[in-house]
Amino acid sequence: MIAKLFRNARIFTPLDSGAPLAGERQGDIRHFEIGAIFCRDGLIEKIGPEQEVLRSLAFEDVDIEVNCGGLCLVPGFVDPHTHMCFAKRREEEFTLRLEGTPYLEILRRGGGILSSVKAVREATEEELLGVTLKHARAALGLGTTTLEIKSGYGLDTETELKMLRVIDQVRRESPLDVTATFLGAHAVPQEYRNNSNGFVDLLIEEMMPAVTEQGIARFCDVFCEESVFTLAQSRRILTAASKFGLGLKIHADEVNDLGGAGLAAELQATSAEHLLASGDAGLAAMAAAGVAAVLLPGTAYSLRKPYAQARKMVGLGVPVALATDCNPGSCYTESMPFVFGLAVLNMGLSPSEALAAATLNGAYSIRMDKQVGSLDLGKQADFLLLDGESPATLAYHAGVSPVVQVYKLGERVA
Ligand code: NIG
Ligand code: FE
Repeated sequence: MIAKLFRNARIFTPLDSGAPLAGERQGDIRHFEIGAIFCRDGLIEKIGPEQEVLRSLAFEDVDIEVNCGGLCLVPGFVDPHTHMCFAKRREEEFTLRLEGTPYLEILRRGGGILSSVKAVREATEEELLGVTLKHARAALGLGTTTLEIKSGYGLDTETELKMLRVIDQVRRESPLDVTATFLGAHAVPQEYRNNSNGFVDLLIEEMMPAVTEQGIARFCDVFCEESVFTLAQSRRILTAASKFGLGLKIHADEVNDLGGAGLAAELQATSAEHLLASGDAGLAAMAAAGVAAVLLPGTAYSLRKPYAQARKMVGLGVPVALATDCNPGSCYTESMPFVFGLAVLNMGLSPSEALAAATLNGAYSIRMDKQVGSLDLGKQADFLLLDGESPATLAYHAGVSPVVQVYKLGERVA
């Protein structure tokens, strides 16, 4: 039993009252100007103004004391949407996009996601693990302590299972909490290009039983988009996934509005992601069904598209979360501080709203809210020290990471 006291910190943490923060409460945070956290074996036992926490402790209760030097202390970031399990970068495609070729056009020509599929099929498990761990460690250094990683560059049963094993290995080999999502429906592979319904059959009849049997993935996701999966196919895939006991996620309205946001509401998905092109009806349906919006402003930035309408979503009462989307095509970054800055400066979230989005609401969107996402009693002592006075520093100090120390379960990990 190791008992640690962290004192002299400016603490900012979202208020977890048992539900994601939404609407007027999206920015509800607790702030202790001179605060302290006491944790035992990595779990928080006390948090509050330093004087109060000190008064409640006897000298012999504390094994280790850390003076945080007045730095800003926030929960570790939860990044609930990444594709960081890939084998090769796609820098040449980035250049093509800069020259004007649209993202989906590159995919239609057999590049994009499909070029990553080729590389991942050819890679050994060790090679794939090496690349994925490198990205996960970069994310950790930038303050991400809980991470979701999707499969989806295999698109055949064997390679999808290989990716999920690698994701599970990252969970075991790094200090991060890692949640795996099965994204077999990320694109239609070349061998099914004239038979996408046949591929949907394969997903449901062969891949899902194998993925469930393997027992690593907790969620199923689908890329509902023009020239990828139609709304009807997405509905079939997610309905089947739900019968297999997987939680539901959907890449919805990233480039075109096919009605993905409405489908997420209809199927009571845990979250819908991207939502760059969503119409009002879909967003209102999400609000009514309590589906979280996982916004990926780094993707809008990198694709040079208009940002998701975060203010409208907050106005409608949709819980907003933030994620990197870290992938080799549409958004190559592991940086939650970068995403935070875009959310504040380009989507109009206040720093408090963005803090809840980057921590607590992300935790809800991968059902990790009981363990992480805020600094509350019984939760993990996962937190960051920032070089600044408040979470606003994450947007204010642009182009660098103000994250100076990272703690997971009360241990310094970066
Ligand atoms: O979320 N949209 C689909 N998937 C990713 C991109 C994956 C890739 O280009 O490799 C996304 O943007
Ligand atoms: Fe994505």
